[in-house]
Amino acid sequence: MACVKVCVPATAANLGSGFDCFGLALGLYQTLKMEEIPGRVIRISARGEGNSVLAKNKTSLSLKAAYKVFEASGYNPKGLRISIVNNIPVARGLGSSAASIVAGALAANEICKRRLPQENLMQICSDIETHADNVVASFLGGLTICGHEKKKLIYRKFFVRYGLRAVIAVPLNLEIKTKEAVRILPKKVPFRDAAFNISRSAFFISGMLTDDLEAVGLGMSDRLHHPYREKMIPGLEDVFRAAKKAGAQGVSLSGSGPAVMTLTHRYPKPIGDAMKAAFKNIGIKAKVMVLDIDNKGARIIK
Ligand code: HSE
Repeated sequence: MACVKVCVPATAANLGSGFDCFGLALGLYQTLKMEEIPGRVIRISARGEGNSVLAKNKTSLSLKAAYKVFEASGYNPKGLRISIVNNIPVARGLGSSAASIVAGALAANEICKRRLPQENLMQICSDIETHADNVVASFLGGLTICGHEKKKLIYRKFFVRYGLRAVIAVPLNLEIKTKEAVRILPKKVPFRDAAFNISRSAFFISGMLTDDLEAVGLGMSDRLHHPYREKMIPGLEDVFRAAKKAGAQGVSLSGSGPAVMTLTHRYPKPIGDAMKAAFKNIGIKAKVMVLDIDNKGARIIK
Protein backbone atom coordinates (compact mmCIF):
# COMPACT_ATOMS: atom_id res chain seq x y z
CA MET A 1 0.00 0.00 0.00
CA ALA A 2 1.29 3.44 -0.90
CA CYS A 3 2.49 5.71 1.90
CA VAL A 4 3.93 9.20 1.62
CA LYS A 5 5.02 11.97 3.99
CA VAL A 6 5.13 15.64 3.00
CA CYS A 7 6.32 18.80 4.71
CA VAL A 8 4.80 22.17 3.83
CA PRO A 9 5.85 25.63 5.03
CA ALA A 10 3.81 28.42 6.61
CA THR A 11 3.54 31.57 4.54
CA ALA A 12 3.07 35.29 4.91
CA ALA A 13 0.98 36.79 2.13
CA ASN A 14 0.52 40.41 1.06
CA LEU A 15 3.65 41.60 2.94
CA GLY A 16 2.08 45.05 3.00
CA SER A 17 1.73 46.44 -0.48
CA GLY A 18 1.40 43.18 -2.45
CA PHE A 19 -2.22 42.44 -1.72
CA ASP A 20 -3.24 39.02 -3.08
CA CYS A 21 0.05 38.87 -5.00
CA PHE A 22 3.13 38.51 -2.75
CA GLY A 23 3.93 35.48 -0.66
CA LEU A 24 6.89 34.45 1.47
CA ALA A 25 7.54 30.92 2.74
CA LEU A 26 8.59 30.64 6.38
CA GLY A 27 10.60 28.12 8.36
CA LEU A 28 7.57 26.76 10.22
CA TYR A 29 5.84 23.63 9.02
CA GLN A 30 2.95 21.25 8.77
CA THR A 31 3.83 17.63 8.06
CA LEU A 32 1.30 15.18 6.70
CA LYS A 33 1.54 11.44 6.25
CA MET A 34 -0.91 9.78 3.89
CA GLU A 35 -1.38 6.03 3.55
CA GLU A 36 -3.70 4.15 1.31
CA ILE A 37 -5.37 1.47 3.43
CA PRO A 38 -7.75 -1.39 2.65
CA GLY A 39 -11.48 -0.77 2.82
CA ARG A 40 -13.33 2.47 2.19
CA VAL A 41 -12.53 4.12 5.52
CA ILE A 42 -10.98 7.52 6.10
CA ARG A 43 -9.05 8.07 9.31
CA ILE A 44 -7.49 11.43 10.15
CA SER A 45 -5.47 12.25 13.23
CA ALA A 46 -3.81 15.57 14.02
CA ARG A 47 -1.42 16.93 16.61
CA GLY A 48 -0.43 20.51 17.29
CA GLU A 49 -2.10 23.77 16.30
CA GLY A 50 -5.81 23.53 15.42
CA ASN A 51 -5.73 19.73 15.77
CA SER A 52 -9.45 19.29 16.43
CA VAL A 53 -10.45 21.06 13.20
CA LEU A 54 -7.67 19.48 11.16
CA ALA A 55 -8.69 15.99 12.24
CA LYS A 56 -12.35 16.17 11.22
CA ASN A 57 -13.28 14.59 7.89
CA LYS A 58 -15.88 17.29 7.28
CA THR A 59 -13.54 20.23 7.82
CA SER A 60 -10.30 18.69 6.60
CA LEU A 61 -8.93 20.85 3.81
CA SER A 62 -6.18 18.28 3.23
CA LEU A 63 -8.79 15.62 2.51
CA LYS A 64 -10.74 17.95 0.23
CA ALA A 65 -7.59 18.78 -1.74
CA ALA A 66 -6.57 15.11 -1.88
CA TYR A 67 -9.91 14.09 -3.38
CA LYS A 68 -9.79 16.89 -5.95
CA VAL A 69 -6.40 15.55 -7.05
CA PHE A 70 -7.63 11.94 -7.15
CA GLU A 71 -10.63 13.05 -9.18
CA ALA A 72 -8.56 15.09 -11.63
CA SER A 73 -6.15 12.16 -12.01
CA GLY A 74 -8.90 9.62 -12.57
CA TYR A 75 -7.58 7.67 -9.58
CA ASN A 76 -9.87 5.75 -7.29
CA PRO A 77 -8.14 5.39 -3.91
CA LYS A 78 -8.97 2.69 -1.39
CA GLY A 79 -9.25 3.88 2.20
CA LEU A 80 -6.98 6.63 3.48
CA ARG A 81 -5.16 7.21 6.74
CA ILE A 82 -3.88 10.74 7.25
CA SER A 83 -1.70 11.84 10.18
CA ILE A 84 -0.92 15.54 10.59
CA VAL A 85 1.55 17.38 12.79
CA ASN A 86 0.87 21.09 12.52
CA ASN A 87 3.10 23.81 13.94
CA ILE A 88 1.41 26.66 12.07
CA PRO A 89 -0.95 28.77 14.18
CA VAL A 90 -4.46 28.68 12.71
CA ALA A 91 -6.44 31.79 11.67
CA ARG A 92 -3.55 34.14 12.44
CA GLY A 93 -2.47 35.04 8.89
CA LEU A 94 0.30 32.46 8.53
CA GLY A 95 -1.16 30.39 5.73
CA SER A 96 -2.24 27.38 7.78
CA SER A 97 -5.19 26.58 5.50
CA ALA A 98 -3.02 26.87 2.38
CA ALA A 99 -0.47 24.54 4.00
CA SER A 100 -3.19 21.96 4.74
CA ILE A 101 -4.49 22.15 1.18
CA VAL A 102 -1.03 21.94 -0.39
CA ALA A 103 -0.06 19.05 1.89
CA GLY A 104 -3.18 17.06 0.97
CA ALA A 105 -2.78 17.72 -2.76
CA LEU A 106 0.91 16.93 -2.88
CA ALA A 107 0.53 13.71 -0.89
CA ALA A 108 -2.41 12.57 -3.00
CA ASN A 109 -0.45 13.22 -6.18
CA GLU A 110 2.32 10.99 -4.87
CA ILE A 111 -0.16 8.28 -3.95
CA CYS A 112 -1.43 8.26 -7.51
CA LYS A 113 2.11 8.35 -8.91
CA ARG A 114 2.41 12.05 -9.78
CA ARG A 115 -0.23 12.12 -12.44
CA LEU A 116 -0.65 15.89 -12.27
CA PRO A 117 2.04 18.47 -13.02
CA GLN A 118 2.80 21.06 -10.34
CA GLU A 119 0.98 23.77 -12.25
CA ASN A 120 -2.30 21.84 -12.14
CA LEU A 121 -1.83 21.05 -8.47
CA MET A 122 -1.35 24.73 -7.66
CA GLN A 123 -4.43 25.64 -9.67
CA ILE A 124 -6.51 23.06 -7.77
CA CYS A 125 -5.16 24.31 -4.44
CA SER A 126 -5.76 27.98 -5.18
CA ASP A 127 -9.31 27.22 -6.37
CA ILE A 128 -10.01 25.57 -3.01
CA GLU A 129 -8.35 28.38 -1.08
CA THR A 130 -10.05 31.03 -3.32
CA HIS A 131 -6.86 33.12 -3.36
CA ALA A 132 -3.48 32.02 -4.60
CA ASP A 133 -0.83 34.00 -2.71
CA ASN A 134 -0.31 31.60 0.22
CA VAL A 135 -0.70 28.48 -1.91
CA VAL A 136 1.96 29.52 -4.43
CA ALA A 137 4.47 30.46 -1.71
CA SER A 138 3.75 27.29 0.22
CA PHE A 139 4.31 25.16 -2.88
CA LEU A 140 7.38 26.87 -4.25
CA GLY A 141 9.08 28.41 -1.21
CA GLY A 142 11.05 31.66 -1.28
CA LEU A 143 9.42 34.91 -2.32
CA THR A 144 6.59 34.51 -4.80
CA ILE A 145 4.35 36.70 -6.88
CA CYS A 146 1.12 35.50 -8.43
CA GLY A 147 -2.02 36.52 -10.23
CA HIS A 148 -4.49 35.27 -12.81
CA GLU A 149 -4.50 35.74 -16.55
CA LYS A 150 -7.87 34.77 -18.02
CA LYS A 151 -8.50 32.57 -14.95
CA LYS A 152 -5.14 30.80 -15.39
CA LEU A 153 -2.82 31.01 -12.40
CA ILE A 154 0.42 32.85 -13.20
CA TYR A 155 3.39 33.02 -10.84
CA ARG A 156 7.11 33.53 -10.36
CA LYS A 157 9.47 32.51 -7.56
CA PHE A 158 12.60 34.27 -6.29
CA PHE A 159 15.16 32.80 -3.92
CA VAL A 160 15.68 34.85 -0.78
CA ARG A 161 19.22 35.44 0.38
CA TYR A 162 20.31 33.63 3.49
CA GLY A 163 20.24 35.72 6.66
CA LEU A 164 16.94 37.52 6.26
CA ARG A 165 14.50 36.62 8.99
CA ALA A 166 10.86 37.28 9.66
CA VAL A 167 9.99 38.56 13.12
CA ILE A 168 6.34 37.88 13.74
CA ALA A 169 4.10 38.77 16.68
CA VAL A 170 1.21 36.33 16.82
CA PRO A 171 -1.80 37.26 18.99
CA LEU A 172 -2.71 34.23 21.08
CA ASN A 173 -6.41 34.81 21.65
CA LEU A 174 -7.40 36.70 18.56
CA GLU A 175 -8.35 34.81 15.43
CA ILE A 176 -9.22 36.40 12.11
CA LYS A 177 -10.86 34.32 9.42
CA THR A 178 -9.68 35.46 5.99
CA LYS A 179 -13.28 35.48 4.74
CA GLU A 180 -14.21 38.09 7.38
CA ALA A 181 -11.08 40.09 6.62
CA VAL A 182 -12.07 40.13 2.94
CA ARG A 183 -15.65 41.16 3.70
CA ILE A 184 -14.39 44.26 5.49
CA LEU A 185 -12.62 45.57 2.37
CA PRO A 186 -14.24 48.25 0.20
CA LYS A 187 -15.47 47.59 -3.34
CA LYS A 188 -13.52 50.61 -4.60
CA VAL A 189 -10.36 52.38 -3.44
CA PRO A 190 -9.18 55.93 -4.16
CA PHE A 191 -7.00 56.18 -7.27
CA ARG A 192 -4.22 57.74 -5.17
CA ASP A 193 -4.15 54.75 -2.85
CA ALA A 194 -3.86 52.35 -5.78
CA ALA A 195 -0.98 54.42 -7.16
CA PHE A 196 0.68 54.44 -3.72
CA ASN A 197 0.59 50.64 -3.59
CA ILE A 198 2.00 50.24 -7.09
CA SER A 199 4.99 52.33 -6.02
CA ARG A 200 5.46 50.49 -2.73
CA SER A 201 5.14 47.02 -4.24
CA ALA A 202 7.88 47.88 -6.73
CA PHE A 203 10.06 49.00 -3.82
CA PHE A 204 9.38 45.75 -2.02
CA ILE A 205 10.34 43.42 -4.84
CA SER A 206 13.37 45.42 -5.91
CA GLY A 207 14.49 45.62 -2.28
CA MET A 208 14.18 41.87 -1.81
CA LEU A 209 16.14 41.18 -4.99
CA THR A 210 18.96 43.59 -4.18
CA ASP A 211 19.10 43.07 -0.41
CA ASP A 212 18.04 46.68 0.17
CA LEU A 213 16.13 46.46 3.45
CA GLU A 214 15.21 50.13 3.38
CA ALA A 215 13.34 49.56 0.11
CA VAL A 216 11.76 46.40 1.53
CA GLY A 217 10.59 48.43 4.52
CA LEU A 218 9.03 51.08 2.28
CA GLY A 219 7.32 48.28 0.39
CA MET A 220 5.61 47.01 3.51
CA SER A 221 3.43 50.13 3.66
CA ASP A 222 -0.06 49.66 2.35
CA ARG A 223 -3.24 51.59 1.66
CA LEU A 224 -5.42 48.87 0.15
CA HIS A 225 -6.13 46.66 3.13
CA HIS A 226 -4.30 47.75 6.30
CA PRO A 227 -6.49 50.85 6.85
CA TYR A 228 -9.68 48.76 6.69
CA ARG A 229 -8.43 45.75 8.62
CA GLU A 230 -7.18 47.95 11.39
CA LYS A 231 -10.80 48.06 12.53
CA MET A 232 -10.54 44.37 13.40
CA ILE A 233 -7.43 44.99 15.53
CA PRO A 234 -7.89 48.31 17.30
CA GLY A 235 -4.48 49.73 18.21
CA LEU A 236 -2.69 48.00 15.37
CA GLU A 237 -1.04 51.29 14.41
CA ASP A 238 0.66 51.34 17.84
CA VAL A 239 2.17 47.89 17.18
CA PHE A 240 3.48 49.09 13.81
CA ARG A 241 4.93 52.22 15.42
CA ALA A 242 6.60 50.23 18.21
CA ALA A 243 8.26 47.86 15.74
CA LYS A 244 9.67 50.76 13.73
CA LYS A 245 10.87 52.51 16.85
CA ALA A 246 12.74 49.32 17.82
CA GLY A 247 14.54 49.25 14.48
CA ALA A 248 12.19 47.62 11.96
CA GLN A 249 12.54 49.17 8.51
CA GLY A 250 8.95 48.33 7.70
CA VAL A 251 6.07 46.42 9.20
CA SER A 252 2.87 44.85 7.92
CA LEU A 253 0.11 42.43 8.71
CA SER A 254 1.02 38.88 7.80
CA GLY A 255 -1.68 37.97 5.28
CA SER A 256 -4.96 39.24 6.63
CA GLY A 257 -3.61 39.23 10.19
CA PRO A 258 -3.84 39.42 13.09
CA ALA A 259 -0.13 38.46 13.10
CA VAL A 260 2.18 41.42 12.51
CA MET A 261 5.55 40.99 10.87
CA THR A 262 8.77 42.63 9.84
CA LEU A 263 11.81 41.44 7.91
CA THR A 264 15.27 42.05 9.25
CA HIS A 265 18.95 41.17 9.11
CA ARG A 266 19.41 42.60 12.57
CA TYR A 267 19.30 41.07 16.01
CA PRO A 268 15.55 40.43 16.14
CA LYS A 269 14.82 40.37 19.86
CA PRO A 270 14.25 44.11 20.49
CA ILE A 271 11.80 44.32 17.60
CA GLY A 272 9.91 41.23 18.74
CA ASP A 273 9.79 42.46 22.33
CA ALA A 274 8.52 45.87 21.21
CA MET A 275 5.71 44.36 19.15
CA LYS A 276 4.73 42.04 21.99
CA ALA A 277 4.68 44.91 24.49
CA ALA A 278 2.63 47.09 22.14
CA PHE A 279 0.11 44.30 21.69
CA LYS A 280 -0.02 43.92 25.48
CA ASN A 281 -0.76 47.64 25.82
CA ILE A 282 -3.86 47.22 23.70
CA GLY A 283 -4.92 44.19 25.73
CA ILE A 284 -3.73 41.45 23.39
CA LYS A 285 -1.39 38.69 24.53
CA ALA A 286 1.03 37.75 21.76
CA LYS A 287 3.94 35.40 21.19
CA VAL A 288 6.94 36.27 19.06
CA MET A 289 8.37 33.98 16.40
CA VAL A 290 11.67 34.57 14.64
CA LEU A 291 11.64 32.52 11.46
CA ASP A 292 14.04 31.84 8.62
CA ILE A 293 12.80 32.07 5.08
CA ASP A 294 12.11 28.66 3.49
CA ASN A 295 13.49 28.56 -0.04
CA LYS A 296 12.48 24.97 -0.76
CA GLY A 297 8.70 24.96 -0.46
CA ALA A 298 6.52 21.89 -0.12
CA ARG A 299 8.46 18.63 -0.29
CA ILE A 300 8.13 14.92 0.00
CA ILE A 301 10.15 13.62 2.91
CA LYS A 302 9.46 9.90 2.61
N1 HSE B 1 -4.43 38.00 0.24
C1 HSE B 1 -5.53 37.50 0.97
C2 HSE B 1 -6.11 38.57 1.84
C3 HSE B 1 -5.19 36.28 1.78
O1 HSE B 1 -5.37 39.39 2.35
O2 HSE B 1 -7.32 38.59 2.02
C4 HSE B 1 -4.08 36.50 2.74
O3 HSE B 1 -3.77 35.37 3.47
